Order: sequence, then structure tokens, then C-alpha cells
Amino acid sequence: MSWFTNLYASSIGKKLIMALTGLIIFGFAVGHMSGNLLIFLGPDVFNGYAAALKGNLPLLWVTRLTLLAAFPLHIFSAIQLKRLNAAARPSNYGEWQPQASTRSSRTMIYGGVVLLFFIVYHILHFTLHIQQPEFAALTYNLDGEQVHGAFEMVLMGFAPTGMGIFHVVLYLAAMVALCLHIYHGVWSAMQSLGLNHPKYNDLRKRVAAAFAFVLLIGFSAGPLLTIAGVTKAAGEAFTKQSVDQVDTDATVRR
Ligand code: HEM
Repeated sequence: MSWFTNLYASSIGKKLIMALTGLIIFGFAVGHMSGNLLIFLGPDVFNGYAAALKGNLPLLWVTRLTLLAAFPLHIFSAIQLKRLNAAARPSNYGEWQPQASTRSSRTMIYGGVVLLFFIVYHILHFTLHIQQPEFAALTYNLDGEQVHGAFEMVLMGFAPTGMGIFHVVLYLAAMVALCLHIYHGVWSAMQSLGLNHPKYNDLRKRVAAAFAFVLLIGFSAGPLLTIAGVTKAAGEAFTKQSVDQVDTDATVRR
């Protein structure tokens, strides 16, 4: 492991680790967003997909452990790089003018803190069901097999009620923060990974903007179209069972 500690000790090593862990989290986000979009194909597809993921223990735990390693490494290297940058800055600045680079790194740190709080809340909400404990009891009959009602959970999470509206606003705000973070992150990760020729600057910005935009739209579609009633209507069109077998509104009001 000494190669790792040696690499981590250097500033370029920290940048590399931040870029690589950022790409891992980004890859997970792209996969998660694509999976979330299956909700528009109804409860059979979405609940089947969620049950298949939860039932594949090696995949589930390799993903969870990889993320559990990637998030702290990403955050600690960000904090340490910020400290190194602050220490390298001459102290007698005179009139200090904010630079574009320091502005964007400040945006990254604040946005990153917002995202960290969001992810903790999100896991308490949809994975551990602490926020809305009624989610844990939702079951769905998938071809004779009882699986967790993940489709119904999302309908309830983003229902047009007080709590649902709060969640839609929270998730959309977090997705804007995610989009800005991904834009700067993908752009600078490509630089840290060697794509830093001035010839490619414009291309790097376009690629980063395209990824950020796709993630913003892809993730926001779930909360927005669910509160608007589209997810439930699409679900009914695609499934053999009635979506009303689970009375989501009644459970939310309980
Ligand atoms: C609008 C945005 C999002 C929606 C609607 C959403 C939806 C969900 C749902 C429904 C689950 C629970 C799956 C299940 O237990 O069957 C989940 C789990 C999770 N989500 Fe999200 N998600 C969103 C954004 C994000 C983002 C941006 C991240 C981080 C990059 C993220 C990370 C996770 C993680 C780590 C889990 C736990 C997976 C596990 O059980 O190990 N989510 N999400």
C-alpha cells in the first residue's frame, strides 16, 4: 500500500484520487438515474428491477462498499487540496480579487456539502425508511412473488401532499447542486486525468455540460412527473395490475 500513501501524499496524487473517485460516483449516478427512469414503465418493471438489484447480493455489496470507500476519499482529498491551495497562497495579498478558479472551487466545496447532506437524507428516506416508516411495509405481488413496493414508495414519497411537496422541492434543489458539481467536476477530472491541452478546453466544457444536463433532466423527471400524476398514469398503462391496489394517498395522510 506504500505506493498509495506516496501517491496520496502528493498534490497531483490527491487530484488524481479526487478525479477517479469522482468518476466512480459519477458512473454510479448515471446507472442510478437510468434505473430510476424505469419507473415510467410501471410497477412490474420498476419493482422487478429493484428486487433484482436487492437480490443480487455480490453486486449490491460491491457497489455499496465501493461507494463507501469512494465518498470519504473524494471528500478528504477535496478538503486537503483546499488546505494546500490556501497554504500556497501568499499572505500579503493587498487588494484580494476573487479569481475564476477560486470561485469555482468554492462552488464545488459548498455544492459538495449540500450533496453530502442530501445523500444522507436520501438514504434515510428511501433505503432505511426512517423518514417515512410506512415505506418498509409496502409489498407488491410480482407474478406470485411478494417483493418490496418500490414503485409505490416513490409515488408516496413525491405525492401531492405537504411532505411530498417538500420532498420534490428538496430533490430538485439537490439535483441543481448535483448538476453544477458534475459540470465543474467532469471538466476538472478530465484535466487531472491528462486531457488538459488548450485545444480540448472547449470540448471538455461541452462534454461536462452535456453530462450535467442529462443527469439534471434524468433525475428531475422522477419527482416532477410523479407529483404531476404522470408516473402513476404511465404505470397504469404498462401494468397488468391496478396501481390503486396500494392506496398511496391514504397511507400518506395517515
Ligand atoms: C431525483 C433524484 C433521485 C431519486 C428519485 C432517487 C431514488 C432512489 C430510490 C427509490 C432508492 C431506493 C431503491 C430501493 O431501495 O429499492 C434510492 C437509493 C439510493 N440512492 Fe437515489 N435517487 C435520486 C438521486 C440520487 C443521487 C443523486 C445519488 C448519489 C449520487 C443517489 C444515491 C443513492 C444511494 C447510495 C442509494 C442506496 C442504494 C442501496 O440500497 O445501497 N440517489 N434512490
